[in-house]
Order: sequence, then structure tokens, then C-alpha cells
Amino acid sequence: MKVLLTGGTGYIGSHTAVELLRAGHDVVIIDNLSNSQVDVVEKIGQITGRPVAFYQGDLLNKDDLNAVFDRYKIDAVIHFAGFKAVGESVEKPLMYYQNNLISTLNLLDVMAAHSVKNLIFSSSATVYGMPEKLPITEDAPLGALSPYGYTKLAIERILGDVAASDAQWNITMLRYFNPVGADASGLIGESPRGIPNNLFPFIMRVATGELKELGVFGNDYDTPDGTCIRDYIHVTDLAIGHLRALEHLGGMRIYNLGTGCGYSVLDCVREFSQACGFDIPYVIKPRRAGDAPMVYADSSRAQQDLGWRAEKNLGDMCRDCWNFQKNQK
Ligand code: NAD
Ligand code: UFG
Repeated sequence: MKVLLTGGTGYIGSHTAVELLRAGHDVVIIDNLSNSQVDVVEKIGQITGRPVAFYQGDLLNKDDLNAVFDRYKIDAVIHFAGFKAVGESVEKPLMYYQNNLISTLNLLDVMAAHSVKNLIFSSSATVYGMPEKLPITEDAPLGALSPYGYTKLAIERILGDVAASDAQWNITMLRYFNPVGADASGLIGESPRGIPNNLFPFIMRVATGELKELGVFGNDYDTPDGTCIRDYIHVTDLAIGHLRALEHLGGMRIYNLGTGCGYSVLDCVREFSQACGFDIPYVIKPRRAGDAPMVYADSSRAQQDLGWRAEKNLGDMCRDCWNFQKNQK
């Protein structure tokens, strides 16, 4: 298949491009490079030995989208493009609603106009808000705790309505848990600009000495060591999940992509310290607003329907993060 990846030079998109190319699909990327670097395109080629078509364009501009669909005969789209920082979305809600919603509406319009009706969407475990029951199944109640979360919920709703209105659409929404790690080559990975908000990028900056210590947000939660628990998933496992979803497109589907295992913040610090060979310094800080104490997935639906399950563990994630980080110098 010829697959268009919106936001394909970003963290998850670039790893998905690698797995699609490895499986023999052709990849076209559209990205405005607002949160990624163009050299990723060359690195994807280097890893896979296969060419990638790249178009620098903005999904807010329909002309850019039309240009790509006019030029390439696209079979399916994986829609990664969007803004994703929870805290920033609270400060700049309009920027988030504008970019994430208008981009998606433009994409759907242009896809329909070109009779391309196969779509995979990057959703998030954030749509479960404060989960009531664990592990979280796809049928759990939905809710959002930030403008970012509301954009994901709104897009899920829009996609549901589109699929219900026209049986030709095949739409799969993938709800990612916490993606970490990097391709084993160490050539691509996650390197956010500025001071990171997420746990692993922050730990990595502490490991390189750029930041002094990690602040652990709360150690008085009702969890075994008092710190929050999350379902960290290796980005390569996540990328392969997209490949499986592509192979099983049909009607409207929703899947959790997680490992089903929960690890605490201190588990991550310990495991990363082992991977890099020295202790990551940390201090306990107050709780961060809006953090759920425990989040982990029931991914059995993806296993049953897609034949997919995560293979890599927290040690693999830490090793590959560190390998990527060392390569950055
Ligand atoms: P990322 O920021 O690395 O990648 C997103 C890409 O989209 C970037 O390359 C950016 O330049 C591009 N982009 C943004 N707006 C655009 C626009 N208007 N036009 C064209 N390109 C645009 O993020 P990621 O971590 O790879 O996440 C990909 C998707 O997965 C996002 O939709 C995100 O919300 C979702 N998601 C991410 C996580 C996570 O923890 N990383 C968790 C759950 C869901
Ligand atoms: N944490 C710290 N110190 C830090 C950063 C994070 O202790 O400096 C803790 C957080 O309090 C939380 C855990 O580490 O307990 C994980 O935090 P992240 O910010 O890495 O991840 P979240 O689970 O908060 O959210 C992430 C993405 C969301 C996405 C969600 C579920 O940021 O966009 O995973 O997929 F929706």
C-alpha cells in the first residue's frame, strides 16, 4: 500500500514509517516541521534502505493536502499530525483546538474528495480522563482533563460520525498509552525542544547532565511506592501496532495500545539508572495537577483482532532511549 503519514517526521510517525517500509509498504510524509527536523527523512531511509517521499506542508492549508493527494495515489492515511503538550494546551487552548481540529477536518475533506477512505488516527489514553477501573478497556467512560484531551475526544467523535454516515470509510482509532524508547539503530528517537514535560525526555536530560535532577511529582499516592504508575510502551511496538491496524482496516474500530504492565516513576528511574550505568539524581516534589495515580491498559482487543501485542519491556525502552541519546552528541 502507499500510505500517507501526516506528522510523519515526528516521534511516533518516524518509527511507524520505518516499520511500514520494512514491511514493504510505500510511505509518503506530510509535515510542517513545527515539532520535528527534516533530517529524519534521510535517517528513515538510512535505517530501511528504502526511499521516503517527503512533502513539507501544513494540514491547516488545504492546498498543501490537495497537492499531495493529486501527486500520489494514496491508499490509506495515518494521521499523527497535531500538537500534544498537555500543559501548553491549558495555556494556549485556541492554538490546540485550531491546529488539531481544523487539520483533521481539512484532512477528512481532502481524503473524501480523492475517494481515499482508509484512516488510522493517533488517539490517546488521555481520553479516559481519571480512570475508574483498571486495567482500562476501550469501553471505559471517556472524559478529558485538558484542552489537548478534548481535541482527542472531539476528533474521535467526528470520526465516529463520519464512519456512521458513509459505510465506505474504514477508520481505526488507536489509543496510545505512554510511548517511550527509540529505534534500535539509535538514529531516530524523541528529542523535544526546551525543558521536557514528560518523564523519559526529562530523565534523559538529567542523564546527559543538562538538567541537575529529576523532580518526582508526588510520592504519597496510593501505589506500592507512592509514585504514579503508567503503562510505558516501546515506540517500536507501537509502530508495529499501526502496521497491524493497517492490515485489519474495516469499518470503525478502536484499540488500546499498551503493554498492560504498570511501572512507577521510581521504577523508571531505577531501570534507566541501570541502562546508563549511573544513578539518576531525583528529588520528591509536590503532586502535579491532573495526574491519575494509576493508568494501564487492557490491550486484549488488539491482541484478539489484530494479532498484536507489545514485546519489549521497560529495560529495552531505557536501553534504546539511552542509545539514541548517546548518538545525539
Ligand atoms: P510529534 O510532535 O513528535 O509529532 C507530530 C508531528 O506533527 C510533528 O512532526 C509536527 O511537526 C507535525 N505537525 C503538527 N501540526 C501540524 C500541521 N498542522 N501540519 C503538518 N504537520 C503538523 O508527536 P508524537 O509524539 O509523534 O505524536 C504523534 C501523535 O500521537 C499526536 O497526534 C499525539 O497527540 C499522539 N499521541 C502522542 C503520545 C505521546 O506521548 N507521544 C501519546 C498519545 C497520543
Ligand atoms: N513525572 C515526574 N516528573 C517529571 C515528569 C513526569 O514525576 O518531570 C511523572 C508524572 O507525574 C507521571 C509520570 O511521570 O506520573 C508520567 O508522566 P508523563 O508526563 O511522561 O506522561 P503522562 O502519563 O502524564 O501523559 C502522557 C502524555 C499524554 C498522553 C498520556 C497517555 O503526555 O499526552 O501520556 O498516553 F495522553
